[in-house]
Amino acid sequence: MKQEMNLWEAIEGRRSIRSYDPTQELPEDVIEKILKMATLSPSAGNLQAWFFYVIKNKKIKRGLVQAAYGQEFLAEAPVNIVVCADPDRSGSKYGSRGRELYCLQDTAIAIQNIMLSATALRLGTCCVGAFDEEEARNVLNLPQGLRPVAIIALGHSRESPGPRPRRDLKEVVKVIK
Ligand SMILES: Cc1cc2nc3c(=O)[nH]c(=O)nc-3n(C[C@H](O)[C@H](O)[C@H](O)COP(=O)(O)O)c2cc1C
Repeated sequence: MKQEMNLWEAIEGRRSIRSYDPTQELPEDVIEKILKMATLSPSAGNLQAWFFYVIKNKKIKRGLVQAAYGQEFLAEAPVNIVVCADPDRSGSKYGSRGRELYCLQDTAIAIQNIMLSATALRLGTCCVGAFDEEEARNVLNLPQGLRPVAIIALGHSRESPGPRPRRDLKEVVKVIK
């Protein structure tokens, strides 16, 4: 068993992975640990306006590839986690700001926790946001109240890409004293 990474290593070492070993399945306890980490994320009013579909089924993964405009690596990964927002849950307390913003912020943070925990366990992930929402909804038979926000590919990586460029801090930070 490889050693887990600390937080700094995970943040610096995470990459979007687009090639997976389809033969290496993930043990249940690993998936559960990653999901547990997702639910430790902060959320507006602690409403936890998220829901997670864990997809191992080949046919449904193929449907997600279709919905995601042919992003084949989703089917290659042994697991896809579809992170959904629950707008009504946030809306019940916060109205339109809850429906349109907070539930998406909740899921965004949970997505990052999933990716960092997976990285810490030496697993690869890729957050896929380019998909037809209606099609994904149909493939998963989602209840009307849930909005699919991201499909996360999860599995053993078959590639080791280097770091992708980032904008300089000077370009994206303004300090106001
Ligand atoms: C909201 C969001 C949507 C994304 N959608 C896709 C996608 O549909 N397909 C894909 O291959 N990568 C997708 N990515 C991954 C980005 O391309 C990637 O994070 C970026 O190029 C930086 O590379 P890195 O993650 O390896 O640092 C998405 C990332 C985010 C945060």
